[in-house]
Amino acid sequence: MARRYASKLTWDDVTPREAYLNRRQIMAGGAALAGATLMTRGVQAAQDAWDLTPNTLEQITSYNNFYEFGTGKEDPARHAHMMTTAPWSIQIDGMVDSPGTYSLEDIIAGQTIEERIYRLRCVERWSLVVPWNGFELSDLLERVGVQDRARYVAFETLARPEEMLGLRVPVIDWPYREGLRLDEAMHPLTILATGLYGQPMPNQNGAPIRLVVPWKYGYKSIKSIVRITLTDEQPVTAWNAYAPNEYGFYSNVNPNRAHPRWSQEFERRIGGGLFARNIETLMFNGYEDEVAHLYDGMDLIEFH
Ligand code: MTE
Repeated sequence: MARRYASKLTWDDVTPREAYLNRRQIMAGGAALAGATLMTRGVQAAQDAWDLTPNTLEQITSYNNFYEFGTGKEDPARHAHMMTTAPWSIQIDGMVDSPGTYSLEDIIAGQTIEERIYRLRCVERWSLVVPWNGFELSDLLERVGVQDRARYVAFETLARPEEMLGLRVPVIDWPYREGLRLDEAMHPLTILATGLYGQPMPNQNGAPIRLVVPWKYGYKSIKSIVRITLTDEQPVTAWNAYAPNEYGFYSNVNPNRAHPRWSQEFERRIGGGLFARNIETLMFNGYEDEVAHLYDGMDLIEFH
């Protein structure tokens, strides 16, 4: 299992000393150049330097999207404590050899929990870098045995109105649903995360277990999962059903495909200060080398 990916970063990989030194030299060199060039280089160097520096725990847990608790960014931090996360189980059904309702303990048993430092790019144009703890979704799917006919994986979030105030408002057609093509689900970058910063997953981030697909817009990374279904048909997903032209099934991060109401060329890194506003959004959120082959020959504007 010695699979190595450039994007599977740990703390040691994030800011190698040499990279910092080089960037400082670039910035110092820039001082001798004309103003505009200096600015461009300086900004770019500064952006590169903290591109994969994780956000603080405070930032990651206080600015969230979890509409089951309200649509404000601070609502999840305020209300998600009402969600009961133990006991927890996931119903795994559809085209699998061993369907059933598995307890969280069962699901995690035998998994090696790894740290994965990933960029998270929300379709709304803000971004974070998060040190997740989790395991590859493929490990779980292999354990339950995916049948040959299966082509897609569908996911569902808990929908418990007594504990989730946001469910009283029909923003989307609850429960929150998401889906992946099977090869996307089996990709080694796709994880089920059970924590961050070495702690159990905070409720507002999708306790006790959520999906993380780092090359797609954040809404694909569905929180607080209670059901996983293997199917041969592209599943209905919450945001796609709500506005298909705005939110495609694929939702790969793509700076060349504008959202109908805004450009996707830039993003704002939460807590990033001076240089945080106009960071260039990268194709596949910077994971192009790892995932572009999944979409060979596909029109990524049409299949957005
Ligand atoms: N999952 C559920 N169940 N409900 C949600 O509202 N929001 C999505 C995604 N998963 C959402 C969800 C969106 S839009 C984003 S950007 C990410 O969660 C945000 O994850 P974070 O709050 O952990 O940063």
